Amino acid sequence: MRVTINDIKDMKRRKEKIPMLTAYDYVTAKIVDEADVPLILVGDTLGMVILGYESTIPVTMEEMIHHTKAVVRGVKKSLIIGDMPFMTYHVTVSDALYNAARFIQEGGAQAVKLEGGEIVAEKVTRIVECGIPVMGHIGLTPQSVYQLGGFKVRGKAAEEAKKLLNDARILEEAGAFAIVLECTPAPLSKLITEKLSIPTIGIGAGPDCDGQVQVVSDILGLYTEFVPKHTKQYARLAGEIRTAVSSYVSEVKSLSFPTMKQSYTMDASLIKQLQTEG
Ligand code: KIV
Repeated sequence: MRVTINDIKDMKRRKEKIPMLTAYDYVTAKIVDEADVPLILVGDTLGMVILGYESTIPVTMEEMIHHTKAVVRGVKKSLIIGDMPFMTYHVTVSDALYNAARFIQEGGAQAVKLEGGEIVAEKVTRIVECGIPVMGHIGLTPQSVYQLGGFKVRGKAAEEAKKLLNDARILEEAGAFAIVLECTPAPLSKLITEKLSIPTIGIGAGPDCDGQVQVVSDILGLYTEFVPKHTKQYARLAGEIRTAVSSYVSEVKSLSFPTMKQSYTMDASLIKQLQTEG
């Protein structure tokens, strides 16, 4: 049975921690789903960790829908959240509704995520009213990286901390079913988590959030161009892949791959006949 937003809210009530991971393709999504991760985010981080952009800003709706469809094909149980890309929900409420609907109708996701607090509250309300679950995202919001002046911790100073708490409350009121807190100091994340009835999902936000989200390529050690402080590498797949590929290259060059074990046979008399005919 597919995880629902009510299951996620119940996990907070039961004080059961909520794991969440990103996935961008069929194979990885299938593994993540089979590992019982209740929430899968098709994050716009795909721009950096899959498509090689410098930030998440160039990511388009078409790219997101393409990858969401692949993830959906691999998943049976997890609730899939499509991450709305830069400027697809900022300009008008109807833009936001139209693009959120694409994730559900074309992509096959069950929810969307968008960045920002008070500034996106009206859009969150309307998307939720139209029947699409919304996850909020405050703190370090990578789509605003140029305005924020880089990938930095948010909410260390009093004014910004107050604003984040206020934004979290506004998103809850607007109908968000959960909120990502990215790179917020642990004590502030704890306070926000205690003040909200909906779950907080932290990334670089300390241990007291209701759940944790990580970029799957980070925890697998696949994306090594930038390793954030808040991640932990549970595997070092980039190194393993490099070793495997080098072994393949040297075996092809030395004629030790393929052998007859990886080859197909045929009737020897037929090949003889073809030789004599030719
Ligand atoms: O796009 C993404 O992967 C995200 C997570 C880091 C929360 O927004």
